[in-house]
Amino acid sequence: MNVPTLNDVDVQGKRVLVRVDANVPLADGEITDELRLEGLLPTVNQLRNAGAKVILMSHLGRPDGKVVDELRLAPVAARLSELLETDVKYATDTIGESAKQIVNDLENGQVALLENLRFDDREKKNDPEFAKALAEFADVYVDDAFGAAHRAHASVVGVPALVDEKAAGLLMAREVETLGQLLDEPKKPFVAILGGAKVSDKIAVIENLLPRVDEILIGGAMAYTFIKAIGGNVGNSRVEDDMIDTCIDIIKKAESQGVTIHLPSDNRTVTDFDADAEIEIESSREISADREGLDIGPVSADAFARLIAKAGTVLWNGPMGVFEFDRFAEGTKVVAQAVADCDGFTVIGGGDSAAAVRKFGLADKIDHVSTGGGASLEFLEGKDLPGVAALRA
Ligand code: 3PG
Repeated sequence: MNVPTLNDVDVQGKRVLVRVDANVPLADGEITDELRLEGLLPTVNQLRNAGAKVILMSHLGRPDGKVVDELRLAPVAARLSELLETDVKYATDTIGESAKQIVNDLENGQVALLENLRFDDREKKNDPEFAKALAEFADVYVDDAFGAAHRAHASVVGVPALVDEKAAGLLMAREVETLGQLLDEPKKPFVAILGGAKVSDKIAVIENLLPRVDEILIGGAMAYTFIKAIGGNVGNSRVEDDMIDTCIDIIKKAESQGVTIHLPSDNRTVTDFDADAEIEIESSREISADREGLDIGPVSADAFARLIAKAGTVLWNGPMGVFEFDRFAEGTKVVAQAVADCDGFTVIGGGDSAAAVRKFGLADKIDHVSTGGGASLEFLEGKDLPGVAALRA
C-alpha cells in the first residue's frame, strides 16, 4: 500500500490528531451499532501505548453546519471511555475554547474527542481557515476514517495538506489494502453479490467489476429493473425505468466478457408493504400486476448459495430484500450464511450488508466487513478516494 502508516511516524509525546469515522447509528441517544467504534480502537490503543496525546475528530450525521443537540458526540465519548477503559475528554465545541483547553491539558497516553465537525459548515466546504484551526491541534495527523475517505472535507483533505507528519491508521490501512487486493488479485472464481434498492447506485461498481469477476448475483429491488429489462413482468415492484437501457447494456457487456449475471428466478411478493401482508412466492418474471417483490424467493436463495459455496473470492454489497423486517429477511439470511460458510476470501462492502451480517451474528465468520458505505462503493468503482490521496501528497 503506497500510503504512510503508523510505522512511519514517531508519536511519542506528540499531539496526534486522528480523523475517525464515529458516524454511528443512534436511537434515542443510544448507539445501536458499534462496528465503527470497535474499528477505531486498535489505532487509538497503539497511539496511546506509544505515548501520544490522542485527539479524535469525527462527524456524526448531517447537521448541515448547525449545532444539533441530538448529533452531539457525547454518547460516543461515553462509549469510547468504556471501550478504551480511559476517560475520553469530550470537548463541547470543535475548534473553540473547550477544544483548545482540553487539547492543551492533554497528557501523554490520554484521549480527547472534539465536537461534531459538521456543526461548522466550513468542514464540508474544506474551508482553509477551519482546516488551519484544526491543524493547530496536530503535530501528527492520522486518518483512520475510511468511511469518510470519499469526502473531500476539511478534516479529510484540508488538514493533512497542512501537517507534514501524517499516516493512515490501522483501520484505514486494512480497508485500503483488503479492498485493493480484492480488485487487483482476486482468487477465482470471483463472485460478486449486489443488492439494494437502486441500479443507479451500483452501475459504476458493476462496470469496474466486469473485467474482474466471473459471476454477478443480483438481488434486492435493483433486480426488478434488470428483470424488466429482459422482458419480465415485475408487477408493482420498484423499478428505475430510466435505467432499463443501461441494464441491457450491462447484460450485453457481461456476456461479451464471459461474466454471468444471475437474476432471481422467484420472489416473495405482497400487495401492500405492511407487516401483515400475505406473502406469496411468485416467479420473478411473472409477478402479478398488483404485487411487489420484497425479497428473493427460496429457489433463488439456494441457487445463489450454491454459487457462493464454490467461490474463491466473494464480494457482497447490498441486501437481497427488505431484511430489516423479519418476514423479508430470509433471502438475505441465506446469502449471509452462504458467505459465512464459504472457504474463499469473503468481503462485505459495508453499509446495509454489513448491518445484515451483524444482525444475523455472522460478522466474525467473514474475512473483512468494511466500515465504509459510500466510501467502499467509490473504492470499488475504482476511484482514488480523496482521503487516501491526501495521505500520499
Ligand atoms: C457514512 O456513514 O457512510 C460515512 O460516515 C460518511 O457519511 P456521509 O455520507 O454523511 O458523508
